[in-house]
Amino acid sequence: MDYNEYIEIVKDYPKEGISFKDITPLMNDGVAYRSAVDEIVAYAKEKEIDIVVGPEARGFIIGCPVSYALGVGFAPVRKEGKLPREVIKVNYGLEYGENVLTIHKDAIKPGQRVLITDDLLATGGTIDATIKLVEELGGVVAGCAFLVELTYLDGKDKLNGYDVLTLMRY
Ligand code: PRP
Ligand code: MG
Repeated sequence: MDYNEYIEIVKDYPKEGISFKDITPLMNDGVAYRSAVDEIVAYAKEKEIDIVVGPEARGFIIGCPVSYALGVGFAPVRKEGKLPREVIKVNYGLEYGENVLTIHKDAIKPGQRVLITDDLLATGGTIDATIKLVEELGGVVAGCAFLVELTYLDGKDKLNGYDVLTLMRY
């Protein structure tokens, strides 16, 4: 399925010079959303995933339906101050700004095979930080799946040695 027609490109959002790829029209279409999730589920089955991890907020939109379909757990990665129990944290840079990501210390068991999901790969800062959190807990990153990759930002350079699925490239 060609998903490109379901992505709205919004110029100068959230800042001048940023060309925002809005995935909400894709989520809005039941057939397209299910198809995209199903492709990631098929990928995850090949990778024998034990648990799905997604960074808030848009990583949940992809990761939660994938984990539901697989019948495996989902572990949220959240911005600082949002998770109530003991966490580990990592600093990361964004296409626009800086932040801290956290995960509950007991969210992943050592040796578990992890699929990381997000809507978009831009500079790779978010995925890089998420990988660091997963690996610090002893998880094995078996795959990373995105709807969209912004190839001109070279985020894939941060994913050398990892298996990556992207459904659309700009
Ligand atoms: C966006 C997007 C990815 C990340 C990609 O998230 O959902 O997670 O940026 O950029 P990167 O590859 O340069 O790190 P954002 O931090 O804007 O937050 P949100 O998902 O909560 O909207
Ligand atoms: Mg995000």
